[in-house]
Amino acid sequence: MKSEDVKKIAMIGAGDMGHGIAASFLLGGYNVVLRDIEQKFVDKGVAGIIKSLDKLKEKGKIAPDIYAQALVRLTPMVDLQEAVKEADFIIEAVPEKLDLKKSVFADLDKFAPKHAILASNTSNMSITDIAAATNRPDKVIGYHFFNPAILMKLVEVIKGKDTSDESIQIGYDIAKKIKKVPVIVKKDSPGFIFNRVNEPTLLLLSKVLEAGHPTPEEFDAAFKPLMAMAPFELVDYVGIDVAVHGLEYFASVLSKDYKPSKAILSYLKSGNLGKKTGKGFYDWSKGRPSIDLAKATKEFDINQLIALQVNEATKLLEEGVVDDPKEIDLAMANGGGSPFGPFALAQGIGYPELVYKLNELHKKFPLDIFKPTKTLKAGKIKL
Ligand code: 3HC
Repeated sequence: MKSEDVKKIAMIGAGDMGHGIAASFLLGGYNVVLRDIEQKFVDKGVAGIIKSLDKLKEKGKIAPDIYAQALVRLTPMVDLQEAVKEADFIIEAVPEKLDLKKSVFADLDKFAPKHAILASNTSNMSITDIAAATNRPDKVIGYHFFNPAILMKLVEVIKGKDTSDESIQIGYDIAKKIKKVPVIVKKDSPGFIFNRVNEPTLLLLSKVLEAGHPTPEEFDAAFKPLMAMAPFELVDYVGIDVAVHGLEYFASVLSKDYKPSKAILSYLKSGNLGKKTGKGFYDWSKGRPSIDLAKATKEFDINQLIALQVNEATKLLEEGVVDDPKEIDLAMANGGGSPFGPFALAQGIGYPELVYKLNELHKKFPLDIFKPTKTLKAGKIKL
């Protein structure tokens, strides 16, 4: 198959990510089947697509005819077999449980046409493991979008152990066609690029909660003027459940340091998961939370957060997940709300200062993850 042969997309899972990805493909001119396990979830996904497209239409970012055509190309559905039977490219965005993903992929393999590519929007998990549930591992790719998927440009296109170059190329080409910024991740590795580089920050938040100070608002107030979304606010936006599952996965495959603290687990247990439930670290019932900047903590600063990102990014280079630091910067700048990637920021700040900042954090929380790498200490990476 060639990328021009991809006409029909099946989106499996109509949650936050699923409906945002579906909307991106609808705007890119594709026919999209949106499928979830119950009609009420499908309806919620369709409502989410309409809400997003309405926003874009109201702001004049899409013309009324593009809006109307996009909705005509959308087919909502509950029956999985029916949803995928004519699909060329199928994207899974079901909850982050490996067994669930494997069982979905086994079904997709059974029901989808032989030529179809099966793509997983997993945030962190091994594409090779997911592909093992199928008889077509060459046609299984990682295809990772960022929340809100309709706006965020990055798509990580991830190669599993047996993924063919042809499958990767098709994923890359159609991401370009829908005006995203695809970045190829040539080695299957936990969290790929974006989530791996951000995971130490999430670990820091988990530890700050455990320490009991500063509060999420005091912490966020120090960063809010410098970021599209402050760190705790962003976790609320993406979902505390998603964040905890990420930490658990990293703890199981990378380092026990990542084990979620009791304090962050207590939010999961309470069911207050952030924006989607109306409450998490903040109250979202009336929209974006207001953060009182006067409460800003002096205990933490932005160079510490940048140091955590740059340090983890050097591990991706050391491990051969990515060869070129520019690719990491491209991914980081397009997956989140920052105009710059970590290595561009490092050029301005200087590597010795970043090493100093990491040592400061390591003193507070003596975790191996926070230790500066050899590459960081050598300070030779230029763009
Ligand atoms: N659909 C359509 N338009 C939307 C939208 C949606 N769902 N959400 C927001 N918008 C539009 C708004 O209407 C507004 O349009 P305008 O500029 O023309 O007025 C624009 O986007 C900006 O929205 P707001 O003014 O409400 O708020 P912000 O300026 O803060 O922008 C944001 C919102 C784009 C989400 C920005 O806060 C941001 O970039 N945040 C960071 C997001 C991020 O880091 N995402 C990655 C998370 S990690 C992840 O997803 C990994 C996964 O594995 C978990």
